[in-house]
Amino acid sequence: MKRKSFLGLAAGLVIAPKSWAESNHLFYENNDLDLISWNSLRSLFPLKHDRIFLNNGTMGITPYPVINAVQKSLTHIAENASYPHHDHELEKKLAEIIGCDFKEIGITKNVSEGINHIAWGVPLKKGDEVLMTTHEHVGGCAAWLQRARLEGIVIKTIPLDPSNEEILQRISDNINNKTRVIAVPHIPCTIGQVLPVKEICALARDKGIISCIDGAHPLGMIELNLKDIDCDYYAGCFHKWMLGPIGSGWVYMKQERLKETNITHVAAYSVNAFNMSKNPPFLDEVINETSRYSYGTFNGPQQKGCVAALELYQNIGPKRIESRVKELGKYVQSKLLELNDQIELLTPTADNSRGGQNGFRILKSNKKYEKINSEFVQYARKNGVILRYVGENDIDCIRVSTHYYNNESDVDQMMNLLHEYMG
Ligand SMILES: Cc1ncc(COP(=O)(O)O)c(C=O)c1O
Repeated sequence: MKRKSFLGLAAGLVIAPKSWAESNHLFYENNDLDLISWNSLRSLFPLKHDRIFLNNGTMGITPYPVINAVQKSLTHIAENASYPHHDHELEKKLAEIIGCDFKEIGITKNVSEGINHIAWGVPLKKGDEVLMTTHEHVGGCAAWLQRARLEGIVIKTIPLDPSNEEILQRISDNINNKTRVIAVPHIPCTIGQVLPVKEICALARDKGIISCIDGAHPLGMIELNLKDIDCDYYAGCFHKWMLGPIGSGWVYMKQERLKETNITHVAAYSVNAFNMSKNPPFLDEVINETSRYSYGTFNGPQQKGCVAALELYQNIGPKRIESRVKELGKYVQSKLLELNDQIELLTPTADNSRGGQNGFRILKSNKKYEKINSEFVQYARKNGVILRYVGENDIDCIRVSTHYYNNESDVDQMMNLLHEYMG
């Protein structure tokens, strides 16, 4: 790779940008991002320095190059009255990164929308069973639960376990002749455990069961290859670990599954032709590509922002990002484990089962009062450290998400607050 000239950033010298445009110019035009230190890359983010954001699992921080791309595109459209061009630039870029055909990708506004396309699309009848976990996010499970309520499909759940073998065993034990779908998160929002989705999908395939993965978190955190995982359906987003503009997602449907997948919401780009002057009115067949879900007018500037996020990710290096995210995640674990008698670390420590999110809870014996975990999250927020309390599914834990724009000192500050809080 041709190396660009340095401005001292690789050596750790941060040149404070005067504006986002200058920042973008500095980093993009003059540096090899894959060589710059993590602390210097922090300058790509407008996040205020008095704010310690340890909640990337809810929303990623948008870096300047993404803001710049959105703004540039929005301005271009306004200046030229140019309708955003449906050229699938974003789908092609994403397909290159996650290893699928761009026609297998549809652009959505978030993960929940992708899950809805899948959950309402899979052909099921009353009594058919869907196997899930007890760690679902509302966006991962609500569509399936609503379908159960309206159409009588049956949702079964398994609890998680730190061991991959045990998870596979529990799934296997719960499969019967009515099981049609296994719908699990790749990385649950609760404790951030990386589940063995490749093995889960292989098990599903072996039994003739459809696999559907809620992939809200992996893209941008760990290297993701859908052909390797070999799932039937996968829903993800750009606005968490990929650090794209907020409210941007995608859905993958394997080409072989498209024909049998029902679709109810159709409009421009879902069909090639219609004619209301015919009797009866005519509607062409819905196209056999996942892009049929990206119907109607779309947010072109936002998609440009997503492309910029993917390029930034590629420029820094997916492997490098994964290894830094895991390094920071391990640092969080090591600090929490020092408090082993006072807190319970819920995320497994095995290398292949952890990423950038850790869940822990303050032990009952140390509970000053019932809501100690949620109140610690509030206490931390008041002191400038943003965490996520996980109250869903009765889990009652504190989630710490660390991305590459964080550093060890952010974690130390969270730990200081934890020590202070627990007295
Ligand atoms: C595992 C999981 N699934 C689904 C969702 C819903 O994502 P979105 O808000 O993009 O719809 C989230 C959001 O945090 C999540 O963590």
